[in-house]
Amino acid sequence: MYDFDKKIPRKNTNSLKCDSINSKLPMLVAEREFRVGEGSNKGILDRMKCPIYGYSITPDEYFLAYISWWKRRHHIEFDKDWMLFSTGVVPTISSTVRKLTTPAEKVILLTPCFNMFYNSILNNGRVVLSSDLIYENHEYRIDFSDLENKMKDPQATLMILCNPHNPVGRIWTKEELERIGQLSVKYNVVVLSDEIHCDIVEEGYEYIPYCSVSDECKMNSITAISATKCFGIPGLQSSAVVVPNPFLRHKVWRGLNTDECAEGNVFAYTPIINALNDGETWVNEMNAYVKENKRLFTEGLKDTGLIFIEAHALYVLWVDVSNYTLDAKEFVDHLYKTTGLYITEGIEYGEAGKSFVRINLATNKDNIKEAISLMKEAINSFKK
Ligand SMILES: Cc1ncc(COP(=O)(O)O)c(C=O)c1O
Repeated sequence: MYDFDKKIPRKNTNSLKCDSINSKLPMLVAEREFRVGEGSNKGILDRMKCPIYGYSITPDEYFLAYISWWKRRHHIEFDKDWMLFSTGVVPTISSTVRKLTTPAEKVILLTPCFNMFYNSILNNGRVVLSSDLIYENHEYRIDFSDLENKMKDPQATLMILCNPHNPVGRIWTKEELERIGQLSVKYNVVVLSDEIHCDIVEEGYEYIPYCSVSDECKMNSITAISATKCFGIPGLQSSAVVVPNPFLRHKVWRGLNTDECAEGNVFAYTPIINALNDGETWVNEMNAYVKENKRLFTEGLKDTGLIFIEAHALYVLWVDVSNYTLDAKEFVDHLYKTTGLYITEGIEYGEAGKSFVRINLATNKDNIKEAISLMKEAINSFKK
């Protein structure tokens, strides 16, 4: 059994989460507070045995470890020739936006969605075409008629899918993915599927790789994956891209090279290879721990008027605060000012997230207990 209860001080480590804001309890930024698994740590220590940190090449073992993990866990066998290295999922997205679309073309998003998708589109002079998810009875689903209308737009050439979806936590079904695939082929829209959260899924539930669903999905898509999110090592800046279609693959490969994100740093490979080859128990235990955190947190705050969106993926919780305010920024500011607990306001994920907040629960139980008590304290002093 791994000890996820252990507290690890992170102050003064140049941590984005712990050093960039002065917060008593930061529960933002999608990364964990857990010590990494043995394999990841050993990978770094092993590489340190040669104290010369020169430029690296991507070893075959890197791709083979991904292939093996996806075969064992997700029942799909990637061909090694389909795979490319990239320094991160976000670099892959930005590079693909630049390579596959022209300025002023439109990129479709299912919103609310991960904030960096907007940056990758807007910073490159492209246009965001939002298709809001339908929010009904505290559940989310795709508005396929709206999505089809958006895809029909001849200026729409790319869609970025998040599978499972950050921040609402939906694991898309085979039928939903199939329908996206059909529409994308009908209207010539390439689908870029960001599957970075795919291994943070509760036992008994399964994510479905987009490219495994149909030939349409396979041949008209680019899949961005990374072990870093699941194994808690995003600072290593390492990921992979899977592109079965050779024409698209050539484009993505040229894009990543031109943008200089096709080579990893000296620690980018061995920790990932070890994690994917030996880290299954760590992931299973960590997912169970996070599930229990979610249960404790929602149980501890039931009857408060906060509405927790039920989800079986992701270690963040998406919370509807509309019983308190339609502008969640007020809620987040009040929480921070009165208690020092820092969470993310939903507007960061688009207009459709305006009355929501996102809370990161990948932390030790003591922090969860403290967060419950700080939330209660802030709620009591917040105007209803
Ligand atoms: C959906 C999604 N994609 C990508 C990333 C970041 O990927 P990377 O660190 O590989 O650039 C995140 C991080 O939170 C995320 O939530």
